[in-house]
Amino acid sequence: MLARTALTVALISSMGMAQAENLQPLQQEGRQIAKEFLGQLKPELKKAMKSGGPAHAIEVCYKKAPQIAAELSEKTGWQLKRTSLKVRNPNNAPDEWEKQVLQRFEQQKAQGTDPKTLEYVEVIEENGQKVFRYAKAIPTGKVCLVCHGTQVSEPLLKKIRSYYPEDQATGFQPGDIRGIFSFKKAL
Ligand code: HEC
Repeated sequence: MLARTALTVALISSMGMAQAENLQPLQQEGRQIAKEFLGQLKPELKKAMKSGGPAHAIEVCYKKAPQIAAELSEKTGWQLKRTSLKVRNPNNAPDEWEKQVLQRFEQQKAQGTDPKTLEYVEVIEENGQKVFRYAKAIPTGKVCLVCHGTQVSEPLLKKIRSYYPEDQATGFQPGDIRGIFSFKKAL
C-alpha cells in the first residue's frame, strides 16, 4: 500500500492523474516480472551457495543472472536489466534515467521510506519512440553481504576481481539499496 502511495505521488507530479491511471496495468506487469526475475535468481543463488560456496556461486551469478534476464526478455517482450550506482559488471552500468531514479530512491530512503516499497514508473521518449520504464529497488539482504558487504573474504574478493576487474559493488550494509530492477517496454 505504501509503495502505491509513493508511486502515485511520483506519477501525479510527473504526468498528471489521467495518465497515472492508464499506466497501472503496465506497472503491475513490471512488478510481476520483477517477482519472477527474483523468484528465479534467488533459488539459483541459494543452490549454488549450498553446493559449492560463494566462490562457486560467483560463476552462477556470472552466467545465470544475464541468462535469466535474456530468457525473461524473450518471454515478456520487455527489456530487463539490473543496475546500481556501484556496479560489479560494467555491462550493468546505469543510463541517465536509471541514475536519477537510483538517486531519487536514495533520497526517499534517507527520508525514512522502506527500500522494499520503492518503485518508480515513467513514460519517456527514446529516439522518437514512447517507452514505458519501470524501476524497483533491490534491498541488500544478509545473504548478499558475503559478496557485496564490507568484509568480503580476501580469496573471494580475488575471485570476484578476476571476473570483474572494475568491481565497485562491495561495502554495502543490510538494508542499503543494492540497486534496481530496471525494465522497459516500447509502447
Ligand atoms: C556469490 C556471490 C554473490 C552473492 C551472494 C550476491 N551477489 Fe549480487 N552479484 C554477484 C555477481 C558475480 C554479480 C555480477 C553479475 C553479472 O555479471 O551480471 C552481481 C551483480 C548484482 C547486481 C547487478 C548490478 C551489478 O552490480 O552488476 C545486483 C543488483 C546484485 N548483484 C544484487 C544482489 C543482491 C540483492 C544479493 C542478495 C540477495 C546478491 N546480489 C548476492 C555476486 C553475488
